[in-house]
Amino acid sequence: MAQRAMVTGVAGFIGSTLAQRLLDGGWEVVGIDSLTDYYDVRLKRENLAPLLDHSSFSWVEDDLVTADLAPLLEGVSVVFHQAAQAGVRASWGVEFDHYIHCNIAATQRLLETCKGIGGLRVVYASSSSVYGDVDRVPMREEDRPQPHSPYGVTKLAAEHMCRLYTRNFGLETVSLRYFTVFGPRQRPDMAMHRIIRSCLTGCEFPLFGDGTARRDFTHVSDIVAANIAAAERGTPGAVYNVGGGNQVDMNTLLETLGRLANSPPNVVRQGPQRGDVRQTLADTASARADLGYSPGVGLEEGLLTEIRWMERMLQRALI
Ligand SMILES: NC(=O)c1ccc[n+]([C@@H]2O[C@H](COP(=O)([O-])OP(=O)(O)OC[C@H]3O[C@@H](n4cnc5c(N)ncnc54)[C@H](O)[C@@H]3O)[C@@H](O)[C@H]2O)c1
Repeated sequence: MAQRAMVTGVAGFIGSTLAQRLLDGGWEVVGIDSLTDYYDVRLKRENLAPLLDHSSFSWVEDDLVTADLAPLLEGVSVVFHQAAQAGVRASWGVEFDHYIHCNIAATQRLLETCKGIGGLRVVYASSSSVYGDVDRVPMREEDRPQPHSPYGVTKLAAEHMCRLYTRNFGLETVSLRYFTVFGPRQRPDMAMHRIIRSCLTGCEFPLFGDGTARRDFTHVSDIVAANIAAAERGTPGAVYNVGGGNQVDMNTLLETLGRLANSPPNVVRQGPQRGDVRQTLADTASARADLGYSPGVGLEEGLLTEIRWMERMLQRALI
C-alpha cells in the first residue's frame, strides 16, 4: 500500500519540491498551506499547479493554527513540516507576531494533534539560523545555539517543541537544520534569487555589507533527499545539519552568477543589516552517518538550475 504523507507549507519553495518528489516516488500526499502573502501568491499557485494535476495529491488551503488537522492526518505516516514565516531581516518589530503565529504556534498545534497518533513521524524544517553569529565553523549540532535574529529564535523554539513531544509523548520527531537552500522556485526575498534577477534584467541588487559574508549553499534536491532519509531512518528526537558543503562569500557568488548568466549583476553596496550573520558552514557528519546523507549537487551546477527556472518565470512575467 502507498505511504501517505502530509506536507505543510506545500505551496512554498521547499514544500512543493518535496511534495513533487514524494508523488513521483509513489506516495500519497496531503498538502496544506495558508498561502501567506509574504511573497507573490502567483508563484505559490505556480508551485502548486503540477501537484494539483496528480491523482494522489489532496490540497487543503488552510492555516495550521486554526485548521481541523486530525481528519487530515488519517492514514498519514509522516508529516514533513515545512510551513513557516521565513526571512531573517523582516522578523524585527511588529512583524514578529507573524513569526510567533506561523513558526511557534503552528508547530505547537501540529504537534498537539500528532501526539496521540501511533506510528506517526514528524520531520521538522529547522534552520542554520539557530546557531547565530559564530566565530568557529563548521557548526555542529552540539554547539550552543545562540540565534542572531528573532526568526532564528522562533525556529529554535519550534525545534525544542519537537524534542519535547518526543521526550514527553513518544512522538517521533526529527529536526533538520537547513543551510541556505537554493534551486528552482527559490523565494524571491532570498539573495541568490535577487542577484539572478539583477543579472537577467539589470535591476539593482543592494548588497548589504562588504561581500565577505560566507554561506553554505544547499541545493533543494539535497534538502528533499535529507527529508525522505529522515523519515525513513532519522533517530527520534535528533537534530541534523543539512548543508551542501558549498561555502562561498557573496563577492564570489556575484562574480560566479554574472559569469553563468552572461551578464553581471547591478550591485549597489549598502551597510550591513541587523540579523545577518558573518558565516555559515555545516558539519554534516551526523547526517552522513545516520541518514546516509551526501549532497549531490555542486554550486555551479545548482546555480544553473535556478538561472534556467528564473528565465522561464521572467518570460511569463511571474517574477
Ligand atoms: N529556504 C531556505 O534557505 C531555508 C533555510 C533554512 C530553513 N528553511 C525552512 O524551510 C521551510 C520552507 O522554507 P521555504 O524557503 O520553502 O519558504 P516558503 O515561504 O517558500 O514556504 C513556506 C510556506 O509555508 C506557508 N505557511 C506559513 N505559515 C503557515 C501557516 N500558519 N499555515 C499554513 N501554511 C503556512 C506559506 O504560505 C509558504 O507557502 C521553512 O520552515 C523555513 O523556515 C528554509
